[in-house]
Amino acid sequence: MYKMIVGNWKMNGTSADLEEFFDFANDWLNPMFDLMICPPATLIGRMTGTSVMIGAQDCHADVKGAHTGDISAEMLADAGATHVIVGHSERRTDHAETNAMVAAKTNAAWNAEMKVILCIGETEAQYRAGETLDVLRTQMAESIPDGAMKTNITIAYEPVWAIGTGLTPTLQEIADVHAFIRETLVARFGDAGAAMPLLYGGSVKASNARDIFVLPNVNGGLVGGASLRKADFTPICSALE
Ligand code: G3P
Repeated sequence: MYKMIVGNWKMNGTSADLEEFFDFANDWLNPMFDLMICPPATLIGRMTGTSVMIGAQDCHADVKGAHTGDISAEMLADAGATHVIVGHSERRTDHAETNAMVAAKTNAAWNAEMKVILCIGETEAQYRAGETLDVLRTQMAESIPDGAMKTNITIAYEPVWAIGTGLTPTLQEIADVHAFIRETLVARFGDAGAAMPLLYGGSVKASNARDIFVLPNVNGGLVGGASLRKADFTPICSALE
């Protein structure tokens, strides 16, 4: 089964962290799985050239123009990123990103020949109300464009209430949700949907990684806080081997 692990550094990381990154990369010269870090855009160009793939955390939906402070997919690709995260819940919350905007960003990334890691996930209120699957169904229907193929998209399930909180769904819940995501993708995309990688994200750490990564339909993880330090991230990567 295809396996992938992605560290999302969010708004963390400066040149002071590069030495530790290259030290980490040196430990993973030939990983048996796709290994990626998504640093802040300021570091992308300085972290390429190892076996660790480099991704970006967001892109603008337009190719260029009057969007002060924004970065296009083409610019990220030019800096050396191969992938871009879109639809992260922090973008949806902090920048009011809608499913339609996430779809537009996905198309922009594909036009720049980048691959997309598209995040979906329910809030705590939606979880408590038993709305998880309805929320995910709508997010998938509206934010995944028709051009999705097994080679250009990875879906990351990140329950919002599990991000940075230390809380995680039960293993059964993670398995059930991933089975639902898989069914939904297969219903829409057929064989391609059966092969699109699915990642779990939300408080993944060394102590729970192995149990989560062996679940059916879980191809790996999208890791936030625990990807920042080599000592925390290394055992999580080892759990995927
Ligand atoms: O994108 C990864 C993320 O949102 C999960 O964060 O810190 O709970 O691993 P964390």
